[in-house]
Amino acid sequence: MCGIVGYLGKKEAAPILVGGLKRLEYRGYDSAGIAVQNGTGIHVVKEVGKIRNLEEAVTDRELKGVVGIGHTRWATHGEPNRENAHPHTDSTGNIVLIHNGIIENYAALRQMLKEKGHTFKSETDTEVLAHLIEEFYTDDIEAAIRNALHEVDGTYGVAVVSAYQPNHIFVARKGSPIVIGVGEGEYFVASDVTPLVPYTRDVFYLDDYEMAIINEKGIATKTIENKKIKKKVERVTIELESIEKGGFDHFMLKEIYEQPKTIMDAMRGRIIKEEGIVKLGGLAAVEDRLVNANKIIITASGTSWHAGLIGEYLIEEFCRIPVEVEYASEFRYRDPIVGENDVIIAISQSGETADTLAALREGKRKGALVIGVVNAVGSTIARETDAGVYIHAGPEIGVASTKAFTSQVTVLSLITMMIARRRNMSAEMGRDMVNELLRIPEKVQIILHQNDYIRDFARRYTNERNFLYLGRGYNFPVALEGALKLKEISYIHAEGYPAAEMKHGPIALIDKDMPVVFLATRDAIYDKVISNIEEVKARGGRIICIATQGDDKIQNYADHVIYVPETLNALMPLLSVIPLQLLSYHVAVMRGCDVDQPRNLAKSVTVE
Ligand code: AGP
Repeated sequence: MCGIVGYLGKKEAAPILVGGLKRLEYRGYDSAGIAVQNGTGIHVVKEVGKIRNLEEAVTDRELKGVVGIGHTRWATHGEPNRENAHPHTDSTGNIVLIHNGIIENYAALRQMLKEKGHTFKSETDTEVLAHLIEEFYTDDIEAAIRNALHEVDGTYGVAVVSAYQPNHIFVARKGSPIVIGVGEGEYFVASDVTPLVPYTRDVFYLDDYEMAIINEKGIATKTIENKKIKKKVERVTIELESIEKGGFDHFMLKEIYEQPKTIMDAMRGRIIKEEGIVKLGGLAAVEDRLVNANKIIITASGTSWHAGLIGEYLIEEFCRIPVEVEYASEFRYRDPIVGENDVIIAISQSGETADTLAALREGKRKGALVIGVVNAVGSTIARETDAGVYIHAGPEIGVASTKAFTSQVTVLSLITMMIARRRNMSAEMGRDMVNELLRIPEKVQIILHQNDYIRDFARRYTNERNFLYLGRGYNFPVALEGALKLKEISYIHAEGYPAAEMKHGPIALIDKDMPVVFLATRDAIYDKVISNIEEVKARGGRIICIATQGDDKIQNYADHVIYVPETLNALMPLLSVIPLQLLSYHVAVMRGCDVDQPRNLAKSVTVE
């Protein structure tokens, strides 16, 4: 996600800003920029790609000034290019700002401002905010900022410099972290403490709806209602490396814990609760072709392919459109039967997977509509599809995909609902489904509270040589995903199967040395799964169950039970996968494996 830095003091700001952005590189980004104020003049430099590109541009410009702000952008609205990079300015260039977060009502604000004569250089929601402040400005820039922020729906961490009040930095926060560092006669702003630590460990954090006005005399803190507040300066003690991982031991665990937020971000601004409908701007132009598709082919690789299998169950159940799920690496070479009334959905976290890119190109060549479900904005797959939906999961650093999977499944649920409500899903069913979707983040949070319990019993399985993962219906793809998670980070062989498939061979593997993970949540085929569990138990298999809260019966069969809250059968994968992510993580850690960078693996497989 994006990174923010700011400096006001006695030193040249530019090198401090660039150095601070370098410390934020771990957050993932695709462009970067700084603004430095010298007197009333504000000089903006921004570049696409790595910070070194910005550093070269800044050196060439010999920027002078002791006040400035800087930003690394992880694109959410608009391609990664120089025009969309931050900082952004108003029409006059006298107001310059950087922003973290998502302004959900930016389109309406942009339209209102256009009608007042504003023109925009970028596609971003952030530039809209700069023009909104301009619209409110008369003779008090701080008041204009406050008034503009009152109009914003969504989240922001924002820093503003202005020629109207030189040698000041105005900072505000709602939902996107902002920390302020207090040095010796100098002050720092950042989205986390990483850039501050080389200069000061004395910091305070803004809370939602709070702002800070920084100048050489000090810092005034207040609410955006203009009510003065006091903020307590604390001393930062945690180490830099731990900060980058948000205090977690590994990026993978951090990203598992981000899922309540990232699942919500995948839905943000896309659900109309009252009508039980879903609005996906990126598919608006092709919605009719989706609704009337003859067949839908989902193509992907790895974890994304597992998300695709869940998409198949969703779309066929609620939209009654035939769906095929294809490994991209197979689809691209087998001269598939694809027609102009077919739709291809390409799912990819990185948006750069070579097999998936080749598969979508094959589908396009045969005349199908190709849409993307992608995390990395502006990635090759995102650019080559006809339309698409970004999953807004933020950068996924851990090679083993976790938050991207649940965000992909969330977006596939939204696509399903968008189509189904145009076909045969009732308003009541639509409302029930969107309301349950909106409750999923808090239910994921409940599961995460069992982390210690899972870690404690995981230690009994660190020396296993094999695992089986079994599930039925919507939980079958989850069984596959759980098996993939374990094998790719702990190097223990694991296989996922449809639970009933056991009797067609795999049951020969069962003995006391074979741990079996059952997805046994309450649904229409629960009793069938219990029968499968009994078959395994009768042969001495050790059993770990993922079960629905309140199911005491399962205790009679399982050696360990991890409970998940009740939810709609179709949304259960968003919950039942969480314990499997944690189980694989803890087993791998206890085996001393490199969890974030497992052997032989790359985060994005850009080669065949
Ligand atoms: C999943 O944990 C793996 N990292 C891998 O299977 C991954 O899902 C696959 O390579 C697809 O990557 P993509 O989503 O970026 O296309």
